[in-house]
Amino acid sequence: MPAHNPMDQKQQQDQRIENNLKQITHRIVVFSGKGGVGKTTVAVNLAYSLLKQNNRTGLLDADITGPNVPIMTGLEGFPETDPEAKTITPQEKDGLQIISMAPMMPKDQPVIWRGPLRSSAITQFLSDVLWGELDFLLADLPPGTGDEVLTTAQRMMPQMAIVVTTPQEVSLLDCRRAVNMARKLNIEKIGVIENMSGLVCPHCGKEIDFFGNGGGKKMAGEMGVAFLGSVPMEIATRNAGDNGRPIVLSNPESSTGKAFAGIAANVITMVS
Ligand SMILES: Nc1ncnc2c1ncn2[C@@H]1O[C@H](COP(=O)(O)OP(=O)(O)OP(=O)(O)O)[C@@H](O)[C@H]1O
Ligand SMILES: [Mg+2]
Repeated sequence: MPAHNPMDQKQQQDQRIENNLKQITHRIVVFSGKGGVGKTTVAVNLAYSLLKQNNRTGLLDADITGPNVPIMTGLEGFPETDPEAKTITPQEKDGLQIISMAPMMPKDQPVIWRGPLRSSAITQFLSDVLWGELDFLLADLPPGTGDEVLTTAQRMMPQMAIVVTTPQEVSLLDCRRAVNMARKLNIEKIGVIENMSGLVCPHCGKEIDFFGNGGGKKMAGEMGVAFLGSVPMEIATRNAGDNGRPIVLSNPESSTGKAFAGIAANVITMVS
């Protein structure tokens, strides 16, 4: 029976979200206080690492106005939709289930949406996307503490938040805020990843402390949250992101590839 009044529609949407979430064992949000620290790189590579460790995994690109997941995964085409049933089937790339706003956006045009509209896009993803049964669903969030972050954290009911930081003090400062935000949102488990932790020299393979390292681990210890691991800065990883072939698939034996595999193992231990 179609819903006519807004209350019925809202109740139906809540019910659909509940039904979808029931089928997903572990829900994780990846966020940071600061932009450009590597959230999408972490979300994509962690999702593939979990998949490689035999977990059915989905990735929700919750960055509505700057969705980068399709670029970094090489995802093309459109998700299938059924307007009558109001359902969206996630796209699949190398075994990973993915949903992103990117295919719906005109190329090179900005999406100028205010917060409520961005939030309603997230809510619609959560109510309409048919993930089916998953072991892990990761959400890649935009930087900061805006509407999408709040909506995703409230409606997706994640059991875990992963906060990504780089080693510099400016990023660590924002990371502390992000950890406190996860606490305020009552997310039970919080883990920190230090990305761009040392630069792997492409000539000699040695590490250079470009942005420093160790600050993320120290900060996690001080704040009483888990430290999941460090990921070095590596040219191959940036190339892999630009070419849509994540490093954990294109070169799992690289320093970053191994780091992500270790972090995925830590995540599995932490949630189980
Ligand atoms: N460990 C790394 N080694 C090399 N390059 C990296 C690494 N992590 C991220 N990058 C590169 O840094 C850039 C920014 O990374 P990314 O887009 O993942 O950050 P973000 O936090 O998601 O950014 P935004 O806040 O805009 O969403 C990308 O070009 C990415 O390839
Ligand atoms: Mg991003």
